[in-house]
Amino acid sequence: MEPVIKTVGLSRNFGDQRAVNELTLEIHQGEIFGFLGHNGAGKTTTVRLLNGVLAPTSGSAIVLGMKPDTQGHDLRQRTGVLTETPALDERLSGYENLAIYADLYNVPQNTKAERIAYLLDVFALADRAQDKAAGYSKGMKQRLALARSMLHNPEILFLDEPTAALDPVGARQVHDMILRLSHEEGRTIFLCTHNLPEAQRLCDRIGVMEHGRLIALGKTEELAHEAGLTVGLEIEVAEEDREVAAATLRTHYRNITIDSQHKQLSISGAKPNLIPEMIAQLVQANVRIYRVSPQDASLEDIYFALHEKVQPS
Ligand SMILES: Nc1ncnc2c1ncn2[C@@H]1O[C@H](COP(=O)(O)OP(=O)(O)OP(=O)(O)O)[C@@H](O)[C@H]1O
Ligand SMILES: [Mg+2]
Repeated sequence: MEPVIKTVGLSRNFGDQRAVNELTLEIHQGEIFGFLGHNGAGKTTTVRLLNGVLAPTSGSAIVLGMKPDTQGHDLRQRTGVLTETPALDERLSGYENLAIYADLYNVPQNTKAERIAYLLDVFALADRAQDKAAGYSKGMKQRLALARSMLHNPEILFLDEPTAALDPVGARQVHDMILRLSHEEGRTIFLCTHNLPEAQRLCDRIGVMEHGRLIALGKTEELAHEAGLTVGLEIEVAEEDREVAAATLRTHYRNITIDSQHKQLSISGAKPNLIPEMIAQLVQANVRIYRVSPQDASLEDIYFALHEKVQPS
């Protein structure tokens, strides 16, 4: 299947500064793609390039089969964007803000009221729908902007830090919504976030930007491997076999640290791809194994390790 987003060498300069540098990327339909990077790394600029709000300096992008820089208007009918600082019409009510957009995005008149009511309900704004947006709290404005970005059932939803202003309940609702849109409706989500647990929980694949360059791309496990991170491993064995188990592993693997107590071996410093082999060694030494649980690296560990690798301090 053709990717819904494909860029080749996509670049954008502002003056002599290169905000996005030779970005080559493919994203497939239904994916939840996490886009990470420090402040100023080029995430928002990329979102703007992919929606035809900015033209590239060089390179190309195809989104839903269209070229954003020349077919931006048609493209934006099929994409939804929550920008970093969404502009609402503060003089209008929540309902009116959505109604104006529904018309702008050609939401059919016969489904418009129902769609608006549904989104106001989902984002817990129904009881404040007739109040002016100027009187909304920061999180309420964010929720209204989120509702607005999905009014026209976009095929790709670009969310630039969607939960930054939300309380834990609101953030959870947005997470559930993202998962539902992807898993049940096959919509593609392009999620820029600084919230690493959020990215780890939601995203199928992650791209990490640094100074305009994509420095890593893949599933969390792949990024951990690329960053050279090791995993922790806990192995529960029969207590009588513990000494043999520790000795076996120490003989074969010099770089690991083993802490053993009672039935438990706690191992650190192992490369994830060695785990099956370690278990095989233990089985061969007649160790009775009851439980093996790898302690995965967090996306936060991976994120820092990747940056460290590119730019050692
Ligand atoms: N309109 C503009 N004019 C000049 N420079 C710009 C413009 N937009 C972005 N930049 C610059 O491009 C670089 C990338 O900015 P961008 O907003 O894409 O970063 P970001 O990854 O979204 O950062 P953040 O996490 O802070 O939102 C920054 O150095 C920024 O100052
Ligand atoms: Mg940004």
